[in-house]
Amino acid sequence: AGVFTYDPGFTSTASCDSTITFIDGGKGELLHRGYPIDQLAGKSHYLEVCYLLLYGELPSAAELEKFEGLITHHTMLHEQMQNFFRGFRRDAHPMAIMVGVVGAMSAFYHDSTDISDADQREIASHRLIAKMPTIAAWAYKYSIGQPFIYPRNDLDYASNFLRMCFAVPAEDYEVNPILSRAMDRIFTLHADHEQNASTSTVRLASSSGANPFACIAAGIACLWGPAHGGANQACLEMLKEIGTPDRIPEFIARAKDKNDPYRLMGFGHRVYKNHDPRATVMKQSADEVLELLGVDNNPILQVAKELEAAALADPYFADKKLFPNVDFYSGIILEAMGFPTSMFTPIFAVARTVGWISQWKEQLSDPQHKIGRPRQLYLGEVNRDYSDIETR
Ligand code: CMC
Repeated sequence: AGVFTYDPGFTSTASCDSTITFIDGGKGELLHRGYPIDQLAGKSHYLEVCYLLLYGELPSAAELEKFEGLITHHTMLHEQMQNFFRGFRRDAHPMAIMVGVVGAMSAFYHDSTDISDADQREIASHRLIAKMPTIAAWAYKYSIGQPFIYPRNDLDYASNFLRMCFAVPAEDYEVNPILSRAMDRIFTLHADHEQNASTSTVRLASSSGANPFACIAAGIACLWGPAHGGANQACLEMLKEIGTPDRIPEFIARAKDKNDPYRLMGFGHRVYKNHDPRATVMKQSADEVLELLGVDNNPILQVAKELEAAALADPYFADKKLFPNVDFYSGIILEAMGFPTSMFTPIFAVARTVGWISQWKEQLSDPQHKIGRPRQLYLGEVNRDYSDIETR
């Protein structure tokens, strides 16, 4: 026996202490190492935020240059790893490929599976941050039957990713700076979010001493679900299902119906009950991208704009504090950029890798850390006598 607190969904249980990310859901505040997310998304860029999350301070110019060099150095995938991609069915979901390939990295980089070695932990973190865009882009290229595009390390992180996704061999591909900035913002805004489901999964996996690649593969698997990172894909699929603005009231009515489990994807958040500060920045970014690329001939984007307005004006959503979350707008941007919906969650996974890794490093450096082992409320039968099969 023993006394346990029963807290399904961990709505009021702190699982660790941390100095990385602070959220005040009531105020709609998100801080990384004390810096507000709107300042980071507005003035900084993804790799600088990665440095901040990993090491706790903003880098000097020399530190940033060195860090960017290290990440760039690791962007290539071992040529033999292409065999992992080729082993999947061509129509495999890119998230399935990512779970597999990232997990398989532990079979490739034995040296950085030694978590007792601080230098190897460092190399593992750089490898993961550097290789995730390549893995995501190659999962996409594989799924559409195009040749893999190798990383180009003179480009910044976001531009390199866009090029690996959209360039075709023997054709020129210029990355539009507005799209590259929007991509960088999507990465920055998804970089970390304290003890969400996938990060808690990474920490729980790591608590047993599992290697970093196995832990991050577990995080990717958890992120895939539609209540978490899969929401951006689910949101766009919902917009496509709605199809035309005249059908919006029908879907809003379904979301409000107590007897219908249907939810508006991209609305609501477990922690933010006022507004999602990431959504505010993402909305500005969406407006910039839509202005550049135009929405007039994209019915999905028209539906998105009108659904947002209709939900915000509806008392049901206001009373339950359901606002568009970051994934509502990121989905719109990615759709406008030309990504298929199946790539939305992989992009979230690329961005969140630094958060997972920073939390993993923090956990391992905590001398108090021990294996995670939740208990349960047992509601089953007790003390039954086994009966032989002939008598049942
Ligand atoms: N549409 C309609 N009703 C909703 C929605 C929604 N999107 N979200 C919550 N509700 C209602 C829900 O039915 C419940 O009503 P009642 O009190 O009458 O039973 C009430 O609001 C509270 O919902 P909950 O499920 O107890 O809230 P939660 O904090 O457990 O869930 C959530 C948070 C994000 C899982 C949920 O809002 C949701 O399913 N949203 C849609 C999926 C989504 O967009 N997820 C992305 C989250 S942001 C990115 C990330 O962190 O991964």
